[in-house]
Order: sequence, then C-alpha cells, then structure tokens
Amino acid sequence: MKNDRGWLPGAREADWIESLARPLSGALAAIEAAATEGSERIPIVDRDSGRVLAALAAGRRRIVEVGTAFGYSTLWLAMGQPDDGTIVTIDPDRSRTDRARGWWREAGIADERITVVNAKALEAFAAGEPALAGPFDLAFIDALKPEYEGYLQALVPRLAPGALVVADNVLWSGRVVDRARTEPDTSALRAFDIAVLADPRFQATILPVGDGLLLAGFRG
Ligand SMILES: C[S@@+](CC[C@H](N)C(=O)[O-])C[C@H]1O[C@@H](n2cnc3c(N)ncnc32)[C@H](O)[C@@H]1O
Repeated sequence: MKNDRGWLPGAREADWIESLARPLSGALAAIEAAATEGSERIPIVDRDSGRVLAALAAGRRRIVEVGTAFGYSTLWLAMGQPDDGTIVTIDPDRSRTDRARGWWREAGIADERITVVNAKALEAFAAGEPALAGPFDLAFIDALKPEYEGYLQALVPRLAPGALVVADNVLWSGRVVDRARTEPDTSALRAFDIAVLADPRFQATILPVGDGLLLAGFRG
C-alpha cells in the first residue's frame, strides 16, 4: 500500500504543473485581475482548481453551476467542454453576471452556450425554473456554504447517471479539518463533506487542490 505522508506535493510542484499548462487566456487573466481589484474582493476559484474544472468538463455537454460571480469558473468549464456544450449558471447578482458575459464573449464563447439564472439557487430550484430541468452531466457548487447540502439535494433529481458533482472550498483554508473551528460556514462545509463521502448514491473524494475540491460521481 502506498500511503506515504513523508512527501506531499506543495508549491514547487504546483508551479511546475502551471509551467506546463496552456497559457492563460486574456479573458481569464482579466477576470483574475478584476476579482482582486477595488474594495469588493470577489472570491473566485484558484487557477489550479480552474484547470481541474476544465479537465473534468471534457465530454460533459450539460453543466449546471451554482454561484457565477464574474464567470471565472464558468469560463474554465466552458473551455473544457465540447464546442456544443452548454452551461446554466445561477447567481442573484446581475451586476456580476453582466460583467461575466462580457468576458465570456471576449473568450469567444457564444451567448447561446451559457444561460444565466439571476435568482437565489434554492428558490430557482424550488420554483421549477425551466432552465434548471436537466438532466446535467456535471454540477459545480460554489455559492453560500450553509446551503451546499440543499443545492446537492435539489440537484440529485436533475443529474444524469454518471454525472459528476464538484464543490469548491470544502477544506476552507484548513479550517474544516480543525474541529475546534465551529464558525457557521466551517461547520456547514465539514458536515457537507462528511455527508457526501458517506452517501451511497455517490462515489466521492476530496482533492486537496486550491481551497479543496470535492468530487462526487453520481451512481444513479
Ligand atoms: C464564490 S462566488 C462564485 C465564484 C465563481 N464560482 C468563480 O469561481 O468564478 C459565490 C457567488 O454566489 C453568489 N450567491 C450568493 N447567494 C446565492 C444564492 N442564494 N444562490 C446562488 N448564488 C448565490 C454570490 O453572488 C457570488 O457571486
């Protein structure tokens, strides 16, 4: 059995992997810059996580995303998808998603490929928003942390067999593994991780990439 904690990949390996990757597109670089400038910092996935999302999206034609912001993760997913792939992405903040559309266009992604639902995700699912009918073959969760479990339950009936569910921030900068940390977001993420990894409907694990990416293959 290989279970060696004597060496774990770190920043040096991450830099090497990045050095091998395709150059960052102008639109992705522009979103990274926009997300960190100004008084309102927009939390977007790490670039390493974005590259994982693009790889996971290969062959996935129907994707749903909860939490768009400036559309950084959306763009990674769209770039990884087949050219006829589509994404439905949910975020109540239209000012953010309108800016996202501009960057998607800059990246050459046709408007028809990405549908934005400007609503709170749980309300949109409960209202039976037609764009969210599915079936989806990849779902990416990255919005309100206490609602992750609710998003997953709403997504399950909308998943195709073999679909992949991906969730960001599941290690929460290490706070999740420290049981002394009981802030609401930390506790919610910890409970979500425990529940999904024990859920017989999924084959799930956590990749220690970025802020932690949970991957759950749907057995349904
Ligand atoms: C972490 S950001 C998403 C970042 C994006 N996935 C990326 O990496 O580029 C979370 C987003 O969730 C949105 N949000 C807040 N409440 C929400 C809700 N109830 N349903 C869906 N999205 C929500 C916020 O407006 C915010 O833009």
